[in-house]
Amino acid sequence: MKLSHKIGKLFSREAHRRAARRIDRKLHPIPLAPLLDKIDKVRLRELQEGHATAKNYPAKYVRDIPRYLRMNIPRVQDLNLHRLPPQDVLDLGCGGGFFLFIAQQFGHRCLGLDMPDHPLFGELCDLLGVQRRVWKIQAMEPLPDLGRKFDLITAFSIGFNRKIDKSLWHPNEWDFFLRDLQDRHLKPRGKIFLAMNPQLDGDYYSDDVRDFFLSRGAEIERERVSLLSTL
Ligand SMILES: C[S@@+](CC[C@H](N)C(=O)[O-])C[C@H]1O[C@@H](n2cnc3c(N)ncnc32)[C@H](O)[C@@H]1O
Repeated sequence: MKLSHKIGKLFSREAHRRAARRIDRKLHPIPLAPLLDKIDKVRLRELQEGHATAKNYPAKYVRDIPRYLRMNIPRVQDLNLHRLPPQDVLDLGCGGGFFLFIAQQFGHRCLGLDMPDHPLFGELCDLLGVQRRVWKIQAMEPLPDLGRKFDLITAFSIGFNRKIDKSLWHPNEWDFFLRDLQDRHLKPRGKIFLAMNPQLDGDYYSDDVRDFFLSRGAEIERERVSLLSTL
């Protein structure tokens, strides 16, 4: 088969999957208003007043809560969390906890993990009632004991795959990380879902990282990398 034909088929498969997800979201919506109603307005106003003019990067999250909830609703829908029975969910680099807050409304038992650098993320998680473990993920270092195993481990807009010298993880670092998740934190038949951040060149991962994910049986669709437990 010609390369152009193969690429065409790949794109049409991707386009088809994206369209199917869009339709499914429309058929099974998660309305925003009931989510907003669950948030303590007094505490939110206090947080917003405290950060009204702050220039630090997480301040944007507290100024426009509806925007970030809206961004996270499709994440919950695409992982089918609004239709699954209660799951144990771990979100790595959870930021303000918006994704887990929505997931919790459907009965899921959620834990976020994020580094200590931005206390506002912790305050947002508190506001949203999301339990958070403070931990900095580092290349070739296992995660701490989290006290339980998870059906689903997610990471959105990933920022932890940078080494101290700012270079990105290579396959050996991803291999260590995924083995640790698989062996110590994922339940049998659990699932890992990663949403990569675009790099400066617009790519989501280098070719060798992509090949590594594929060799681990991942399903890849642009920024989305899904892996199933091998147990
Ligand atoms: C772009 S933000 C995404 C936040 C959230 N996942 C979302 O999509 O809205 C990246 C997040 O990863 C966290 N992060 C970056 N490096 C990390 C590390 N080494 N360990 C743990 N968290 C990290 C940041 O603190 C931040 O919350």
